[in-house]
Amino acid sequence: MKKIIISSLFIFILLILVIYLLNPKEIYQLNKKTTQFVDYQSAPEGTPSLRASDCGLCHSEIYHEWQTSLHSKAFIDPFFTAYHKKDNQDPTCLVCHTPLSNQSPVLINLSDNSKELKSRVNPDFDPELQKEGINCAGCHVRKGVIYGPYKARDIKAPHPVAFEQKFLDKTLCKQCHEVPSKDFSLMKEGICSTGMESDTGIWAARGFICQDCHMPAIERPLMTGFPSRSGRKHLWPGGYSTQQLQKVFSFKAQKINDKIKLTISNSGAGHMAPTGDTDRFIILDFFWQDQHGKQTILKTIKFKRQVIWQPIMFVFSDNRLGPGQSLTINLSAPETPGKLFVNGVYHVMTDKSLKRLRDKYKLTSEQPIHRPFINNRQIIIKK
Ligand code: HEC
Ligand code: HEC
Ligand code: HEC
Ligand code: HEC
Ligand code: HEC
Repeated sequence: MKKIIISSLFIFILLILVIYLLNPKEIYQLNKKTTQFVDYQSAPEGTPSLRASDCGLCHSEIYHEWQTSLHSKAFIDPFFTAYHKKDNQDPTCLVCHTPLSNQSPVLINLSDNSKELKSRVNPDFDPELQKEGINCAGCHVRKGVIYGPYKARDIKAPHPVAFEQKFLDKTLCKQCHEVPSKDFSLMKEGICSTGMESDTGIWAARGFICQDCHMPAIERPLMTGFPSRSGRKHLWPGGYSTQQLQKVFSFKAQKINDKIKLTISNSGAGHMAPTGDTDRFIILDFFWQDQHGKQTILKTIKFKRQVIWQPIMFVFSDNRLGPGQSLTINLSAPETPGKLFVNGVYHVMTDKSLKRLRDKYKLTSEQPIHRPFINNRQIIIKK
């Protein structure tokens, strides 16, 4: 048995070495999507500038919502800053974290054979705009026009407006929340595969798009004094929102002889839970509490994807639940009478990764990386 493990490990290492020596760039294939900023944009007529705060002069509610979202922190987010340092300020990170070329100190373009990245200094770089990360203009402004979701052309805006379908489907979100599989030859799906994950399962079948769960619908005027319209809150709650996390799991338990049959379902996320960033994982602790309040852990489950990054990207384990998927396990029922409970904690990263970011990449954030979201929730056991 030991021999088989050692020799298969040896073959695996040899295989990786051969692939690596042959041509590593073929595997880390760069593509247009992840190397192209939105072209330089100037402020549309009728708006003071491209700054979110200036759009906010009129669209104040939307502006205040956006300010609380991670989109507004995509550049100043301390975890991003530390990881960007770790990756030697790789300019391709900025394509999604600060999408307008005005926001980047360097401009990049891909060589004709798609193998080399060329970069040059950007004369139009605006450091103030960079700090805004994914701002209003990043999603709405192209060539002096502000695009939006309204098909009926009764909008009376002081700036040029036009309808754009991508606000009403997943296209806009997928631009950054999905990197297609063909870019990573040895993976079924790309690392950032939220978009693809959402294309199958219960929510896709019901016609849900990202906005349905991440931008709650609301009726209100776009600006004080204007008619009320159907729109959406610009909040994008995700893994940092306890309320959003509480929607993910549902549990069922049934006593069969001396076992408890426990079913855990991802009934609330439109994609894998967790999705996106591979550092993140969720731990569920199932415990028994007897009449005296004594607690015994019956089972701990960690939902996580393990990825090898070097020399080739490779997912070697992934036990996360897809949208609507369930996992059923049997627990041995304790002899003492009592009740079944669950606790859930969302982890942004491991303590080890946090320590490394603090020691080597000057992370100063005191933001908690362990976020409890299910606290002593009882699971009723059916007979
Ligand atoms: C001087 C005030 C003002 C400023 C500044 C302003 N807007 Fe507007 N905007 C309006 C008004 C008024 C409407 C239309 C309201 C209506 O008809 O209900 C509008 C409409 C819109 C729409 C809907 C477009 C559609 O047809 O779907 C979007 C999107 C939008 N604005 C985004 C922005 C962005 C992004 C900025 C900053 C770059 C901005 N606005 C700056 C006042 C402003
Ligand atoms: C990540 C992309 C994104 C960013 C950033 C963004 N929006 Fe939007 N915006 C959308 C989407 C998607 C819709 C369509 C919502 C819907 O279906 O009504 C929208 C709709 C709107 C509308 C039409 C009214 C409504 O609620 O639908 C206005 C006005 C608007 N945005 C203004 C802004 C302003 C101002 C900012 C910055 C403070 C901003 N947006 C930032 C994606 C974005
Ligand atoms: C220009 C690229 C871009 C677009 C377009 C975009 N996002 Fe994002 N989104 C990001 C980045 C980058 C972050 C993480 C920011 C950070 O903290 O560093 C993020 C964060 C989020 C989060 C929070 C994640 C968390 O961990 O809590 C949610 C939810 C989200 N986006 C949903 C959406 C939805 C829905 C759309 C489409 C309406 C959308 N995004 C469009 C790039 C984008
Ligand atoms: C049926 C509702 C639903 C739909 C549809 C949905 N999401 Fe989510 N999303 C959630 C819930 C609930 C969470 C919190 C659980 C979690 O962190 O996975 C979440 C978390 C996230 C996060 C945070 C990452 C994480 O796992 O912590 C991102 C980013 C995100 N969603 C993006 C998207 C994008 C992009 C789409 C569309 C392609 C989308 N979501 C569609 C419900 C939904
Ligand atoms: C294809 C678009 C894209 C590119 C390129 C990209 N990111 Fe992101 N990044 C995202 C999205 C979308 C999120 C939102 C959270 C998620 O999906 O888990 C995110 C989230 C993050 C987070 C987590 C933030 C938090 O608060 O938890 C870090 C850190 C990060 N990115 C660093 C980087 C670095 C460093 C690079 C370059 C090596 C990079 N990203 C390149 C799209 C991108």
